[in-house]
Amino acid sequence: MQITINNHKYEANQGDRLLEVARLNHEHIGYFCGGNTICQTCYVKVLEGAELLSPLSEEEKAILSENLLKAGTRMACQATIEKPGTIRVVSAVEEVKHLLETSPLELGGYVATMGWEAMIKVPDTLRLQAGREFDLWQLFCDVLSGIGDGWKLIFNAFSFDCCSKEKGETKVC
Ligand code: FES
Repeated sequence: MQITINNHKYEANQGDRLLEVARLNHEHIGYFCGGNTICQTCYVKVLEGAELLSPLSEEEKAILSENLLKAGTRMACQATIEKPGTIRVVSAVEEVKHLLETSPLELGGYVATMGWEAMIKVPDTLRLQAGREFDLWQLFCDVLSGIGDGWKLIFNAFSFDCCSKEKGETKVC
């Protein structure tokens, strides 16, 4: 089956986590905690096919505000593909990049809104995180991998001035 992430089409299978599909295809998505439901940078907005994804996890219920849920927000490290069909998502990282490129003055409003939505869920988020047990070594490795890949993504996302198109291919210098 196909999934569209940030307007790019990819192959995916039932059971795949959205985060893995995005990472595998080097798509712009946040995952600084390496998929451990801590950093909250992996938000995606589901534009189509929400019913094909796994139900909201307890972690998402604790972390995502009512407004974010109404807007179709999921955490890519939590949501998996359960049924075949058409799924279209856009990542929060891509939304920020798009705002920076097209209407930077709106970026402040976007960041303030996301900050507010995160703040009103702080008590639930803290309760959730306090009750979790982590394999600290695995967490350390995941975070290291997330940070490393994250910086590469940030560099690639914002180095568009350094790119040139030749014969339909994008060359990054
Ligand atoms: S919360 Fe960090 S990757 Fe999802």
